Amino acid sequence: MRKGGIFRHGKEIEGLRGGVLGYAAQANPKIDDARAEKDPFRMETMEITVSPAVQSDIASILEIENDSQLEPWSKRAFVEEINRADSNLLAARLQTGASSGESSPQVAGYVCFWSIQGEIQILNLAVRKTLRRKGIARKLIEAAIGTGRERHAAVVTLEVRNSNVAARKLYESFGFIVTGERPNYYGALKESAILMELRLKTN
Ligand SMILES: CC(C)(COP(=O)(O)OP(=O)(O)OC[C@H]1O[C@@H](n2cnc3c(N)ncnc32)[C@H](O)[C@@H]1OP(=O)(O)O)[C@@H](O)C(=O)NCCC(=O)NCCS
Repeated sequence: MRKGGIFRHGKEIEGLRGGVLGYAAQANPKIDDARAEKDPFRMETMEITVSPAVQSDIASILEIENDSQLEPWSKRAFVEEINRADSNLLAARLQTGASSGESSPQVAGYVCFWSIQGEIQILNLAVRKTLRRKGIARKLIEAAIGTGRERHAAVVTLEVRNSNVAARKLYESFGFIVTGERPNYYGALKESAILMELRLKTN
């Protein structure tokens, strides 16, 4: 995904804000025991919550972004998305320890998407490196799709680097299909963008 890419065609848009609040689910239990011993988040009580990001999350989001993306968005770009009425920037957080009920203020991952004329456009997604393969991206994509269903969107679209196997597998697992390719789309490496979409049933 690239800020200012094909999805930024400037069409005006119905309002969409805070579509998913306090979304919670059990984390992916598929972690082997050896890894779990070293992993403070491997707890039966771990929950992933997804809610709209706020200004104070931006430092944490930028840290993940700079560590995750070849062409990271700037701080200004995230501030812009938080302030856009038609954009959703959702943050995933881990809640560890049912007894304390404490929630880590630290952002574990985020997704940014727009709702434009019956379409959800996913613009950005990343998960903190140390917290990958725990189902966090899955919860974020579920939240984006859930918002699409609430808004009666017909389709969820995105673009992904050709070589990004992890992201492509993630999207395929939701039923996204490849609809096209834009050669030489990404920066200096001139990598192709793969266009993917998921059709949503509309009533
Ligand atoms: C892609 C990314 C967001 C996935 O986040 P994650 O929280 O680790 O993903 P999840 O744990 O929710 O994985 C869900 C599914 O995605 C697929 N998947 C995720 N990472 C994968 C990997 N490294 N290799 C193969 N499949 C992978 C699997 O199908 C996985 O299900 P499983 O764990 O039951 O096998 C993360 O790797 C990341 O931040 N990458 C850098 C930024 C990026 O590429 N963003 C996407 C731009 S389009």
